[in-house]
Amino acid sequence: MEQPIYILGIESSCDDTSAAVICDGKVLSNVIANQEVHAQYGGVVPELASRAHQQNIVPVVQQALNQANISKNQLSAVAFTNGPGLMGSLLVGTSFAKSLALGLTIPLIDVNHMQAHILAHFIENDSPKPPFPFICLTISGGHTQIVKITDEFSMEILGETIDDAVGEAFDKSAKILGLPYPGGPLIDKYAQLGNPKAFPFSKPQVANLNFSFSGLKTAILYFLQKEQQKNPLFIKENLNDICASIQYTIVEILMDKLKKAVKETGINHIAIAGGVSANSEIRKRLQNAEKQLGWKTYIPKFEYTTDNAAMIAITGYLKYLRKDYADISTAVKARLKVTE
Ligand code: KG4
Ligand code: ZN
Repeated sequence: MEQPIYILGIESSCDDTSAAVICDGKVLSNVIANQEVHAQYGGVVPELASRAHQQNIVPVVQQALNQANISKNQLSAVAFTNGPGLMGSLLVGTSFAKSLALGLTIPLIDVNHMQAHILAHFIENDSPKPPFPFICLTISGGHTQIVKITDEFSMEILGETIDDAVGEAFDKSAKILGLPYPGGPLIDKYAQLGNPKAFPFSKPQVANLNFSFSGLKTAILYFLQKEQQKNPLFIKENLNDICASIQYTIVEILMDKLKKAVKETGINHIAIAGGVSANSEIRKRLQNAEKQLGWKTYIPKFEYTTDNAAMIAITGYLKYLRKDYADISTAVKARLKVTE
């Protein structure tokens, strides 16, 4: 009988320290330590993030092994995020992964965080995997891209944001509303009680399959300033409707471009990935697109949307099968495209 392949995945690109164990593509554990320390600063402080990763990494990896009920000696390989992300944060996960792989004399596998968000769709679970070619809308705090995937590791960017990422649009709007960081999930929460058509915001006109979100943020800021001059309690009294209107506009922008991408490529297998794919409105709109537009949609489980190590481990597993290993001298890359 074939030996099972156990991959340990390590993710430390931003402010979540995560470790996961995957056996033959199935998730056995996926432990995530969030860093509370950043909330009071309204955003991630890189120096504090790397320090927190240093504190978290050993217990998080230990917990992932415990939950998977395996010992480190059973691991087949160690996969880690080598970029893109914060340099100091990436270094913590990378150094740990290198020492562990070296100590256990097993392969080391470098993983592109952006590819991993997309390849999370290949985790073995009950839902069907997208067939090639498919289109993935990657929406996170740092990226907004429409990617065409023709094979596990051959990807092409069809369009991307020319300024802010969609997660930033959510978080910056939330900040204007006085909500704590990260505000995306809070906008989603309040939006569920509000009227999405209450306050119409105009959508930006951007060529091709590219996006722009910086204008929307400014429009929201000016709108709120004007309303607050008339009524200082405007935000408090209309929070649900404001959140629903912002979310509706953002999701409309995303859906418009997806429709354009389907039209241009003729591909109607559509996946979403990244932290913002946890958003209830985009999930609902994509589900509706199955009936209304005839698309086949692939929506990740909640736990694989925001940053997690299971997506790193599955990507590591796919590279392991190809014997695509990293050298011990591999450097971290703060900037790395999904196509690299
Ligand atoms: O993928 P991710 O965890 O980290 C990056 O690689 O950026 O994405 C984080 C982003 C944040 O901007 C957060 O506000 C947003 O995802 N986010 C959401 C929701 N959950 C997370 N945005 C809108 N609605 C949500 N439910
Ligand atoms: Zn991410």
